[in-house]
Amino acid sequence: MEVMLGIVLAITIFTTMAAVASSAASPVTFVFGDSLTEVGNNNYLQYSLARANYPWYGVDYAGGQATGRFTNGRTIGDIISEKLGIPSPPPYLSVSQNDDALLKGVNYASGGAGILNDTGLYFIQRLSFDDQIQNFNKTKEAIKAKIGGEAAAKLCSEAVYFIGIGSNDYVNNYLQPFLADGQQYTYDEFVELLITTLEGQLMRLYKLGARKMVFHGLGPLGCIPSQRVKSKTGQCLKRVNEWVIEFNSKVQKLVASLNRRLPKAKLAFADTYGDVFDLINNPAAYGFKVSNTSCCNVDTSLGGLCLPNSKMCTNRNDYVFWDAFHPSDAANAVLADKLFSRLFPQPPSLAPAPSH
Ligand SMILES: *[C@@H]1O[C@H](CO)[C@@H](O)[C@H](O)[C@H]1NC(C)=O
Ligand SMILES: *[C@@H]1O[C@H](CO)[C@@H](O)[C@H](O)[C@H]1NC(C)=O
Ligand SMILES: *[C@@H]1O[C@H](CO)[C@@H](O)[C@H](O)[C@H]1NC(C)=O
Repeated sequence: MEVMLGIVLAITIFTTMAAVASSAASPVTFVFGDSLTEVGNNNYLQYSLARANYPWYGVDYAGGQATGRFTNGRTIGDIISEKLGIPSPPPYLSVSQNDDALLKGVNYASGGAGILNDTGLYFIQRLSFDDQIQNFNKTKEAIKAKIGGEAAAKLCSEAVYFIGIGSNDYVNNYLQPFLADGQQYTYDEFVELLITTLEGQLMRLYKLGARKMVFHGLGPLGCIPSQRVKSKTGQCLKRVNEWVIEFNSKVQKLVASLNRRLPKAKLAFADTYGDVFDLINNPAAYGFKVSNTSCCNVDTSLGGLCLPNSKMCTNRNDYVFWDAFHPSDAANAVLADKLFSRLFPQPPSLAPAPSH
């Protein structure tokens, strides 16, 4: 049964992506998520504490300036866009509602955001997944006003929706001893709350016309520097990783169930846990030297971001992690390569005919 489910999902992901690859040369993409995919929305939220507009962020991005990305260079989404031959969609809050740029895709992601509304509440301002869906709803209205209802519906049903959310529901909610959710719910209750909330959110996106959705599963959060420092020996937190694996497997089942229930839905679950875990455990195999601490010498007791007075490592490409939470540009390049080949498996190439 598990094997069957695996095959069905593998086929689903393949047909979803084959449809993407064969659709218009440059697919329209809408991106939803947290700081792993944000490209600058929080810079527009005046009181947000979840911002990456500090000098060292973006040091390896074109122009060398902080852009709101939570890494020294590109996000995985930026690199996937490069591979698709499209510009990385701009932050929602940077685009006015009458700008034609909306027709080419938008990024709604916001650092600190979670599936649950109260996740990351101590960042004061961030766009939760519910807020992001409401913003997409506004984009859709703006697109309708531009090109008419029928064309807007077509655009939305052919677009690809990349969704990566849930890390903060652990790191900046359940795992924080001073927040209510960790006290109020047992782990089993909490993961059920996440899955039922996510189910409603994916159905809301479907209602708004989304058909091709890719949910990017969570990585081994127990191995990020901000969690490792909680173990006496600097090891990965096994219990946290087990929770993430369970979350991922429940989302995978949810995706399969939505595909059965919702006509023409083509949801895919991209499980990258193993790829990230391997990179962290065998950094040398990928050309890295350090994976148990971050390049930027952050203070994990003070948020774990790379602040202007932090010291950077000498060779940023040696480190899997940039700060206490986020991979470096070099690590994102490795992970994007792997994700891309999962999403767009190369058809076997035909051997050239022998010449004699
Ligand atoms: C979360 O916020 C959204 C809109 O911001 C609202 O529609 C929804 O009811 C809220 N959910 C809960 C559980 O409070
Ligand atoms: C989209 O926004 C409109 C207007 O605010 C609202 O009536 C509708 O319920 C929203 N749809 C979804 C699926 O969120
Ligand atoms: C990371 O691993 C190295 C080599 O195994 C070790 O010397 C170092 O103390 C570790 N650092 C942390 C922060 O755990």
